[in-house]
Amino acid sequence: MQNADTDDVADQACEVSGANHVAIIMDGNGRWATQRGKPRLFGHRAGAKRVREIVESCPDFGVKYLTIFAFSTENWKRTQAEVAGLMMLFRRYITRETQALHEKNVRVRFIGDRVKLDKKLQSLMDHLEDLTKDNTAVNLTIAINYGGRDEVARAIRDIARDVKTGNLDAEKVNEETLSSYLDTTVLPDPDLVIRTSGEARISNFLLWQSAYAEYEFIDTLWPDFTRDVFAEVLQRFDGRDRRFGAVKT
Ligand code: FPP
Repeated sequence: MQNADTDDVADQACEVSGANHVAIIMDGNGRWATQRGKPRLFGHRAGAKRVREIVESCPDFGVKYLTIFAFSTENWKRTQAEVAGLMMLFRRYITRETQALHEKNVRVRFIGDRVKLDKKLQSLMDHLEDLTKDNTAVNLTIAINYGGRDEVARAIRDIARDVKTGNLDAEKVNEETLSSYLDTTVLPDPDLVIRTSGEARISNFLLWQSAYAEYEFIDTLWPDFTRDVFAEVLQRFDGRDRRFGAVKT
């Protein structure tokens, strides 16, 4: 149950939010679990539960695109137990949430290099993307084994290949060309990137795409990131003056 005050915050954000694409670095699961004397995976499970609430709030807030960072190309450096636990969580999350996401008219996409992921997870991802491909309420993109530098390197490799085979003129390669070779080719650039848990870094997330994004670094740990916290962040975003390098006249 929400109280009247928090409902007000959510309603105002609903009226005013101009953030078409919000990207979130969901940080702080480990600390959230440690604060409760629990293993890190307990925090990741709580974090996974939070995803549904935030996805479902997007249509109310006018957010058409939500991109969430679930696993980075650097996260393989974690202990084998944590990596295995996260991979199991992704498989379970997709299995359990597929129907609900589809019923809520959510279109799901994945970005990142899938080759290193296990075959079962890859097939669940493919199935979810295919099932939801005609949905229109929210575009949810989940980044798994994603790194901004890795994405640009893969794109450049593909560009070089196409130049070599004569399918692309090297002299015509420009910013739009590179954008079109990225995993995010069909997505608009993010308007707002949120990182939870008090850390103020971007950790290789959407490096190219966030050139003109606004950033919000907030102290809340991801498992505590409620719809109301989201509404407050969106309200602050709406108060910002975005000039994209130009001068307002
Ligand atoms: C960062 O917190 C979080 C991750 C590396 C994993 C993100 C995964 C989830 C939120 C759950 C699963 C998501 C989906 C879509 C199923 P951390 O472990 O670095 O926290 P810490 O900085 O407190 O240690």
